[in-house]
Amino acid sequence: MAGERYRDELTDHPAVGRPVSELPTPAPLVDLDVLEANIATMAAFFHGRPAHIRPHAKTHRAPAVARRQVAAGAPGVTCAKVSMAEAMVDGGVEDVYIANEVVAPGAVARLCALAERARVAVAVDHPESAARISEAARARGVSIGVLIELDAGIGRTGTRPGQPALALADAVARAPGLELVGLHAYEGHVVDEEDEGRRRAETEKMLALTMDTRDLLERHGLSVREITCGGTGTYAISGVYPGVTEHQAGSYVYMDPGYHRLTPEFGMAFSLLCTVVSRPAGDRVVTDGGLQVLSTGHGPALAKGHPELGPGRLSEEHGTFRMVDGGSSELRVGDQVEVFPAHCCAAANLHDHVYAVRAGRVEAVWLATARGRSQ
Ligand SMILES: Cc1ncc(COP(=O)(O)O)c(C=O)c1O
Repeated sequence: MAGERYRDELTDHPAVGRPVSELPTPAPLVDLDVLEANIATMAAFFHGRPAHIRPHAKTHRAPAVARRQVAAGAPGVTCAKVSMAEAMVDGGVEDVYIANEVVAPGAVARLCALAERARVAVAVDHPESAARISEAARARGVSIGVLIELDAGIGRTGTRPGQPALALADAVARAPGLELVGLHAYEGHVVDEEDEGRRRAETEKMLALTMDTRDLLERHGLSVREITCGGTGTYAISGVYPGVTEHQAGSYVYMDPGYHRLTPEFGMAFSLLCTVVSRPAGDRVVTDGGLQVLSTGHGPALAKGHPELGPGRLSEEHGTFRMVDGGSSELRVGDQVEVFPAHCCAAANLHDHVYAVRAGRVEAVWLATARGRSQ
């Protein structure tokens, strides 16, 4: 791998070559075999299909992971914020899509500065944000790609499909410094829907509205090169929907227990190595990993390889696991256990680095240089 060239892949860190059991806990681990398999599985799915994967970097926030996704065929990455995109470009990614509205003056200025050293596109859902970006891009002499974000079901950001989207796309196409690239729609309202039939139906409903809007724009002489959408739970639905050109799934690369139920073809690559710090009663194992390192949301944490332990209840600095069905556990104070966070993206954003591990040894330390980059 081109790791040596990048300062965010540390191969001279004191932990490199050591067994994971020697790491200070809680320690964020990435299982390289699982990570590589996840990247390969997603790349193979999109290989030969009209759409490609542009993975969302908010999952890992680590250019070392992004470069591996690009090496597997992605044209670049999706980002949530300008500062995240800056970290990815600093790490060698040459093509970034910010799948979010950029409005604050400082952020608009940085967006345009970034376009001097990478291919940059951004979502727009309002004429005001289009005007701000246009003005800054023109002043700086750069061109920013624009995808009109639609609210075709998510109920978050996005202009309405049909005429409102046409009016906005027309304004963007005329604005100096902006290049109308296409449409963005995200099925975030159903991406983790357990009922597969509903997940499919709602995703396809959103995409049908998106394609109707594409047709409307094209009838008015506007060019729609890209249609981007998608999350991990729907990649096999939206990734093959006719007309979709880009897919933004992110979590697949690290995975977590909730998504693993929906897409078991991806393994859980990201965990926190924790130490058992207390066995206060036979029915309880308490570790040193709480919500400060595992985050909350999207359900409970899960102890790897310990089916006798139920879902973890997290307080700030402790993870408390109770036995399932009155069973028992061999775990003793001082033992280590890997814990999968309920939401891999939120947990990864709590750590400046991850230990890249293979067969129980640290192979490298990867800096998550986009950690906390939410501006
Ligand atoms: C705009 C956008 N695209 C794509 C994703 C896909 O992410 P995931 O694969 O983690 O569901 C997200 C998740 O937050 C998102 O907000």
